[in-house]
Amino acid sequence: MEESLPIESPSMSRRQLLNFLTGAAVAATAGAALYPVGKFFIPPKEVGEDGSIIAKDINGNIIPASQILAEPPGTRALVAGLAGEPTYLTIREDGTLHPWGIADNCTHLGCTFPWNPNDDQFQCPCHGSRYDPEGRVVRGPAPLPLQLAHVNVEGNYIRISPWTETDPRTGKKPWWI
Ligand code: FES
Repeated sequence: MEESLPIESPSMSRRQLLNFLTGAAVAATAGAALYPVGKFFIPPKEVGEDGSIIAKDINGNIIPASQILAEPPGTRALVAGLAGEPTYLTIREDGTLHPWGIADNCTHLGCTFPWNPNDDQFQCPCHGSRYDPEGRVVRGPAPLPLQLAHVNVEGNYIRISPWTETDPRTGKKPWWI
C-alpha cells in the first residue's frame, strides 16, 4: 500500500505566516525599544571636535552619569575634566547637574582646594582665598574667578567642554582664553 505523504494544509501555511509576521513585529518593537538603551550604554566619542571630553575618575575610568547623579543634592563631585584638570560638578536641588563645571585650581597660585559645605564656599588652604558656589572670589588673595567649563549629560556619560563665551559671572570675556 502506498504511504501518503503529509500535505501541508493551506490553513497551516497561513498560521506559519501569521507567526512569522507576529515574530517580526515583536522583533521590530523590541529593537526600537532597545535602541535608546543601547545608546545609553555605548560610550560616546571620548574627545569631541570642540575639544570636549568625557568625565573620568582619578584612575582614568569613565564615570557613569548615574553614579554622579546618585549623590545627594548639593554634592560637589570631583572628576578629571579638560586636560585632566580636576573639575567640580555640582548636583542641583532637582537632582540634575549644574551646567557649569568649576576648575579645582586656585587663581592665586594654583593650589587645589576643597568644598566647605558648612560655609557654602570653596576654600583654598594655601593662602586663604575663598570662592562662592559659582566660583566668584569672596576673599583674596585670589585675583580672578575660578575657570568654568560646560557640563552636559549624554546618555549615561558626562561631557565637559571648553567655556569660550562670555563669563556669566563677570559679563566679560573669560580670562582663561
Ligand atoms: Fe589659593 Fe594662594 S593658591 S590662596
